[in-house]
Amino acid sequence: MIAPISGFSKLKKEEKIAWLSQTYLKESESAEGILRQYWNEDDNLQQLHDEFTENTISNFYLPFGIAPNFLINDKLIAIPMAIEESSVIAAASKAAKYWHNRGGFKVEVRNTIKIGQVHFLFKGDEEKLKQFFNTCKPQLRDAVSSITKNMEKRGGGVLDIELKDKTSEMADYYQLHCSFETKDSMGANFINSCLEKFADTFKTQAENYKDFNEEEKHPEIIMSILSNYVPECIVRAEVSCKVEELSDDKKIDSHTFAEKFLTAIKIAEIEPYRAVTHNKGIMNGIDAVVLATGNDFRAVEAGVHAYAAKDGKYSSLTHAAVENGVFTFWMEIPLALGTVGGLTNLHPLVKVALEILQKPNAKELMEIVAVAGLAQNFAAVKSLVTTGIQQGHMKMHLMNILNQYNASSQEKETLIHYFKKHTVTHSNVEEQLTLLRN
Ligand code: MEV
Repeated sequence: MIAPISGFSKLKKEEKIAWLSQTYLKESESAEGILRQYWNEDDNLQQLHDEFTENTISNFYLPFGIAPNFLINDKLIAIPMAIEESSVIAAASKAAKYWHNRGGFKVEVRNTIKIGQVHFLFKGDEEKLKQFFNTCKPQLRDAVSSITKNMEKRGGGVLDIELKDKTSEMADYYQLHCSFETKDSMGANFINSCLEKFADTFKTQAENYKDFNEEEKHPEIIMSILSNYVPECIVRAEVSCKVEELSDDKKIDSHTFAEKFLTAIKIAEIEPYRAVTHNKGIMNGIDAVVLATGNDFRAVEAGVHAYAAKDGKYSSLTHAAVENGVFTFWMEIPLALGTVGGLTNLHPLVKVALEILQKPNAKELMEIVAVAGLAQNFAAVKSLVTTGIQQGHMKMHLMNILNQYNASSQEKETLIHYFKKHTVTHSNVEEQLTLLRN
């Protein structure tokens, strides 16, 4: 039986690895060496990474790649992506080129409002609570003035604080439902600091409110936290062209392609099993850019999927239509992103990613990320309704299979050439490699 360890976080990195080796890696000859192999030679850079989080023992690499040729609102952009899935960057690049020749992507940020809530229980007269809230509201705003000062200089701050009655869903449950503008920062720390201050002030003011009885003077604050559901922080991306310009493949004419594509989108709109995979493909593009630009992909994932279910049923995030001979494909999604603060100022590769993107502000980054999602979905659905996904996917996966079998550079070259004309499957690659080696 392994005994729990206390004080692990206080051990030095070497000591943590030694403990791991003795406890969980006894059978492994290589694990310790591999952990060390991924340390950065530059001690300062390694220390920076160590300090991003707790108990760091090594670094975990992801490929950092580029999808060029994105024409976004008439500006040509190369998009950095951090992703391990072999076909994602190739698919994004293909879609970028395809739409570059058809007018490019049009994208627009609709709104950038973010939400945070103080959840509390109040036992007492609701009318009195409402009156108290109205008198207290200016004090809540005053209480955060030192936190909001800099944000207000940049044009952001607290937009509104509302009292919400949730007692129909749970006894005594109310909220301070607060909206914020956080400009170029994602704003999580700013919002959470404001909310905790609101909660403290609300509690103290209630204690001194003369119309409250003893019980009413003590609302119970349950928690104060931003929401990653941001349905008012919305970006819309779109591509369109004449139907007859759609096909780039002799095997399918433009009208058939348009029909099949629209049907595929409709299926994702009505069928949740398909919608989840369809939206996963969108997130392939979105997460890769969110990660490369040092943003919180978990927050984005949570918010986007909640939005996909906003009408009570999980559905496609993208939509398509043909009107007057014009094919239009679009997506509207919530994205809370930042280009200042957090990792954006710290991680050297994130800084490079933002430089490649020409130092976008948060709104411009929302636009780029949405385009990456739309492009990814277009590429996936286009493949699905024409050649099928495996042809391209397995071509890109070939290198992974070859690496699994420790293929040499010479073997890789020969087999990449061979599989230009043959179908890639795991067993075919294994067979060809064996033949080559014999
Ligand atoms: C694979 O990572 C993503 C796809 O399954 C998306 C889709 O089916 O639309 C290809």
